[in-house]
Amino acid sequence: MIIEPRTRGFICLTAHPKGCEQNVIDQIEYVQSKGNIDGPKKVLVIGASTGFGLASRITSAFGSDAATIGVFLEKPPSEGRPASPGWYNSAYFEEQAHKAGLYAKSINGDAFSHAIKDQTIKLIKEELKEIDLVIYSLASPVRTHPDSGERFKSVLKPLEGTFRNNTVDFHTGKISEISIEPGNEEDIKNTVTVMGGEDWKMWMDALQKANVLAEGCKTVAYSYIGSELTEAVYRKGTIGKAKDDLEATAFSITDSLEKLNGKAYVSVNKALVTQASSAIPVIPLYISLLYKVMKEKNIHEGCIEQIQRLFSDRLYTSTTEIDDEGRIRIDDWEMREDVQAEVAELWKKVTTETLPKLGDLEGYNKDFFNLFGFKVAGIDYDKEVNEMVQIPGLQE
Ligand code: NAI
Repeated sequence: MIIEPRTRGFICLTAHPKGCEQNVIDQIEYVQSKGNIDGPKKVLVIGASTGFGLASRITSAFGSDAATIGVFLEKPPSEGRPASPGWYNSAYFEEQAHKAGLYAKSINGDAFSHAIKDQTIKLIKEELKEIDLVIYSLASPVRTHPDSGERFKSVLKPLEGTFRNNTVDFHTGKISEISIEPGNEEDIKNTVTVMGGEDWKMWMDALQKANVLAEGCKTVAYSYIGSELTEAVYRKGTIGKAKDDLEATAFSITDSLEKLNGKAYVSVNKALVTQASSAIPVIPLYISLLYKVMKEKNIHEGCIEQIQRLFSDRLYTSTTEIDDEGRIRIDDWEMREDVQAEVAELWKKVTTETLPKLGDLEGYNKDFFNLFGFKVAGIDYDKEVNEMVQIPGLQE
């Protein structure tokens, strides 16, 4: 079929297999160009199909020759209906990994459930025996609690009064003011239940109980801090409470891994265009300005550059550099004083008319479409493609 982008708000309903394949190949080539990392050998990535999780899987496999198991929730294709992009990413990741002689298998289902944890553990027991790195990179708006069956929905609300600020519709470039009413205790509870650390801890407890964690194993989850411009709705909002909880969970996981001499980390990453971040108000405008400033300074990175640097300069070095709160910081370039000062200056001036010049709306837009395999260089979008791509190592 011929596949074109069909967008609805901040999501795209279609994905292009060839574009997704090219994105995966580009990321693999980037990792290979940076040389070998003396890194992990048997890796479980939870949330492995897009964004930071996919980059973690690629870096493990192609930077460190690791066997990988990827867990994700993606929509398979049906005749005439393309799959979700993470499906195609995983299919082509596996194809490339297998070609390179690397073990790669995938599990598609709800990572919050007991069933998917059990299935993953069974696969590890049968095939890899143990895991030395667990990456936790889930981003989800909802979670069905595996014990109670209750369904929780996360919300993106401020907590310190009504939030008013500019936001952009990144399709049209139109800037408008939004106003978001503050969340309450219930909103905090819901958001922390979905995006906090409970499920990460459940995974680690289940893996440890099943004896499939290696001596000296590591686990990493991803967090975000960001600028003063976004803090009311992000770090000091409901999602920030979830990130506080996630960060605190790292300490309790490290305690529980004591016998194995294992360690849990949170890595604070840079703001980037992913399916998760495009849904957050204000963030797309912030990212458009941030991209402009960071690209001009030649310090712009995407997911793969961030994660390659996380592995090679932080996680797999003799000492892992951390901040006062015990977190790894690969948002260091985003948070540089000069970068933040310039973004804040642009923020004051930017309007719908000046955004194309002051910000990198074009870069934002391109990255957004790239997530779904569109606007990728070298792909002929007028050509028929087979949408029915299968993931070779998918476990049923
Ligand atoms: P993403 O939307 O690209 O990836 C989310 C992943 O989770 C996908 O693999 C998806 O299949 C999987 N997933 C979602 N629900 C699932 C479920 N119920 N069961 C199994 N898999 C499920 O998101 P992104 O942006 O890569 O986020 C990953 C982490 O990085 C999140 O914790 C996010 O807060 C954090 N982060 C993101 C930043 C950004 O700017 N995008 C910045 C810093 C941290």
